[in-house]
Parts: sequence; C-alpha cells; structure tokens
Amino acid sequence: MEGMTPPPPMSLLAELTHRCPLQCPYCSNPLALEPKARELSTEDWQRVLDEAAVLGVLQVHFSGGEPMARKDLPDLVRQASRAGLYTNLITSGVLLDRDSLGRLADAGLDHVQLSFQDVDPQQAEIIGGMKGAQSRKIAAARLIAEDGMPLTLNFVIHRLNAERVPAMFDLAEELGARRVEIAHTQYYGWGLKNRSALLPTRQQLEDTERAVAAARTRFGNRMAIDFVTPDYYADEPKPCMGGWGQRFLNVTPSGRVLPCHAAETIPGVTFPTVHDASLGDIWEKSELFGLFRGTDWMPEPCRGCDRREIDWGGCRCQALALTGHAEAADPVCQRSTDRKLVDAAITEAATATETFVYRRYGD
Ligand code: SF4
Ligand code: FES
Repeated sequence: MEGMTPPPPMSLLAELTHRCPLQCPYCSNPLALEPKARELSTEDWQRVLDEAAVLGVLQVHFSGGEPMARKDLPDLVRQASRAGLYTNLITSGVLLDRDSLGRLADAGLDHVQLSFQDVDPQQAEIIGGMKGAQSRKIAAARLIAEDGMPLTLNFVIHRLNAERVPAMFDLAEELGARRVEIAHTQYYGWGLKNRSALLPTRQQLEDTERAVAAARTRFGNRMAIDFVTPDYYADEPKPCMGGWGQRFLNVTPSGRVLPCHAAETIPGVTFPTVHDASLGDIWEKSELFGLFRGTDWMPEPCRGCDRREIDWGGCRCQALALTGHAEAADPVCQRSTDRKLVDAAITEAATATETFVYRRYGD
C-alpha cells in the first residue's frame, strides 16, 4: 500500500463535543477533554461533512461526549444527509425528547445507537454518575421505537455488570431494538486509568460468551448481535480500526483529524486539522495517516508474521500505552515479548478494589 493512493475510508467519526452529563469511568475520550470554546463552528462541521462525502466516506457517526449537547446537531445531520452520507447518532439518550427526535428525523437521521450502562438502574447510576439517567434512556428508546427509526442498544461490559448480560438481551427485546452490541470495555483513555476496577475475570468472560450464544439461538434473525470481547484474554490482537488509515477517520471537537480516537497520544508527530487542509489531502498525504499504514513500518515479530495483513499488528495506541513504543507489536499478541504486561494487568485486576476515577467534564 505504501506509495499508492489509499482507497477512501468507509466511516467518519464526528466527535462533536466532549461535553456530557454522564461520567463513565471507561469513556474512550482522551484524559484531557476539549473545552466548549475550542469546538468547531457549525459552518466548519458542515464543510467537513461535504469534504467527507467528496472523499468517498459512506457513513458518519455523530458522537461525543454527548453529541446532543450541540444545539446545531439537526443542521449537521441535514448537511450530511444532503451530501448522501448514512447518518448514525451515538447518544446516551438522556437529552433526547419527542421534539428533539422529531427535529433529527426531519433532518434525515437514519439510525440511533443508544448506550446503556446496565439494566439495574442503581448500578447504571453508579457507573454513569448521573441520577435518573436510566429512566430517561428507557423513555428515549421508547420514543425512537415509536418513531420507527432503527435502534441499536449498546451495553459496555465490565466486571460490575457482566453477570447481567442475559437481562440486557431481555431489555433490548422489550425496547424493540434491531441490533444489540455487547461490547467489553477497551482500555484506552479513561478505561486504561480504571482498568483494574473494570477488567472482568476469565470466568465472567466465559459466562458472557455462553449468554451471547444463547441469545443468538433465541433471537435468530429477529435481532442482530455484535459481541466485542475483551482483547486482554485473546491470543491475537484485533485489527484496530480495520488497520491504521485504512477504513476510518476521526475528527475531534476542535478539528484534529485522526486515524483513531486515541491517536493524540502518539508522540513526535504533527496532528493535521480541518483548518489546515481538506479531509482528502489529510487522508492521502499527511504524515500521521501514513505513519502505520500498511506493513512497511513493522518491526519483528509482525514483519515476518503471516497475520500481518489480518490484524495489521493490532492497536498502535495500546502498544504505546503499555510498552512506550507505538511501533511495537500489540502486547495482547502471544508472539510479543511484552505479553507479560497484559498477563500482569489481568493478575493485578483479580485482586483490585473497585474504585473509579470518574470522567468529569470541566474538572
Ligand atoms: Fe499480529 Fe504482529 Fe502478533 Fe503477528 S506478531 S499476530 S502481525 S501482532
Ligand atoms: Fe489507536 Fe487502536 S486506538 S490504533
């Protein structure tokens, strides 16, 4: 792939804001949250959405923080829709009501992905750090189902809620979801900070796998089920983002353009912004997107490995966070000499007490 024009990305993650009424300790946002004053304007985002469509992006995921904290969200959805992009809203649902849903539907919103912290309201509030959040989410899900808009429920799984995965499927059925994501916490940003309190045990993982298999049999084609395993228990890493600079791009609230949500941790590189160049130029020509694209950058053991074009060496940000070297093999990999770091984290988590550092906007 080196030296050639890369094919266009499939998806744009538009991180509209880091503002959010919830405080989840596994949030994938960076530890340093962007203030409102640095957020892109409506006009900037509208231009970025047009540039994404020209580049060949097919889907835009409006995310955050809580994207509904941006009052101009319907304007952005309308712009994306007019540009021919499939529009997905990734939301906690706590700011959604009949009026705001109506405005989004009129603007052409195609799909909503609603996140739940748990099925147990008390536990959900402990994780999300917001009183009354669960009832608001359930009300939001009912409004979406009433409207007929396709709905995905997303549950983030960790040590404190893994035992309730079967009840999560029951809730999804009751709320009319067409798709459910049972996604284990990923350990970047706030998740890495709280890893010891969140990492499930191997027994919990096995129980969750059984619950997912049972739900697949029970629902058949009536409900699609996506299952994201905790990669610390895997022998081989995931192909993070489908390969660096191959399928996705992220735009942060202040307009940095990144190959993944954690790329701002990569040292010694200039981060391109939507103020400096078009998305197309950034995708094709920037140093950042070329840094780990393809396989030429790989050292051993990835360089000589027959999985190098399957997992693309795993996750660069996880390699950096755990080993201090972004070009190292993902330490989840059994062939990595750093695998012992992952095994030590599992051992440490098994005896850790469950106290969190909450992600608090404005702290
Ligand atoms: Fe993937 Fe590298 Fe491990 Fe091979 S050695 S499985 S390419 S991380
Ligand atoms: Fe950055 Fe995986 S999160 S490469």
